[in-house]
Amino acid sequence: MTEAILLVGGMGTRLMPLTRNTPKPMLPVAGLPVTEHQLLMAKRAGITSIVLATSYLSEIFIPYFGDGSRWGIDLRYAVEEQPLGTGGAIRNAAELLHGDSTVAIFNGDVLTGHDLAKQIDFHTSHRAEVTLHLTRVTDARAYGCVPLDADGRVTDFLEKMENPITNTINAGCYVFEREVIDFIPARTVVSIEREIFPKLVAEGKNIFGFVDDSYWLDIGTPSALLQGSRDLVAGALGGQKSEFFAGRGCSIAPDAKVIAGSSLGAHVKVENGAIVQGSIVCDDVKVGQRSEIINSFIAPGTFIAPESKIVDSYCAKDGTFSLLTPK
Ligand code: GTP
Repeated sequence: MTEAILLVGGMGTRLMPLTRNTPKPMLPVAGLPVTEHQLLMAKRAGITSIVLATSYLSEIFIPYFGDGSRWGIDLRYAVEEQPLGTGGAIRNAAELLHGDSTVAIFNGDVLTGHDLAKQIDFHTSHRAEVTLHLTRVTDARAYGCVPLDADGRVTDFLEKMENPITNTINAGCYVFEREVIDFIPARTVVSIEREIFPKLVAEGKNIFGFVDDSYWLDIGTPSALLQGSRDLVAGALGGQKSEFFAGRGCSIAPDAKVIAGSSLGAHVKVENGAIVQGSIVCDDVKVGQRSEIINSFIAPGTFIAPESKIVDSYCAKDGTFSLLTPK
């Protein structure tokens, strides 16, 4: 039986100030925290035993997900006092796994429509020690790229470069044989991407790439987070295609407009004449009359005064604004 580890302990610095009080994987995308989308994806692939590898703001996850029983998942929490990096976090979380078979590992900031069950089958049929989900992007300059040989074996891990030799990049979802995790040093800060993978390849381990071009997005920046939410509202990961999403207990005045893939959390009130366009509005927000919220992120519990205009911005509960950087 495959188990999973979700890496959710990073500081999310590129998403500051959105991540000041909420860890990146708990930010809402189309009404659900990113981690919840990932739990649902793991469940669809038949995985029901999961360890969340937490560190930064670890206390935020437990009240929401509890023991996972609401999702039919046995969920445990590995807490790093000091962040151990992506590799150290995997090694640390593996101590809470029940079994000795394959382990699926996800970066906690990725939305992906690839078929994880297929990736696991590919891993098994190739007798791989590690299988990485790889995706193809048009411009790979911002990513480390992963070349393959004709059999699909990973031949190298290359850092970002001006002229990438391939557009196939690491998509942040791995299947590991359990014993390969013991190759990562214990209680040590180490990066899986920059240190462990290159070492495994150099040592001739059987590392394969599972190339799949389904919907994929790293939500690590404010514009990507907003894009991801709009995409999911528009049905990018299946389900119904909608103009907007509204959580439970929302009220939208008849002449207000919630459009362009906007997502409202629970108990949001949108008053007369207001427009919410392409935005994420968290729980318990009130959007005053004739306000406009465009391509913006509104923190939980915020009151937006009537006739405000908020464009490309983050708005905190105390009403302070900051402009979101375009990238
Ligand atoms: P930035 O600071 O904006 O780069 O974001 P980040 O801190 O989340 O780093 P990055 O995007 O590289 O992390 C990829 C995934 O690994 C994310 O889901 C992080 O939550 C997770 N992650 C990164 N570092 C750690 C760590 O030290 N411990 C744990 N448990 N998870 C981590």
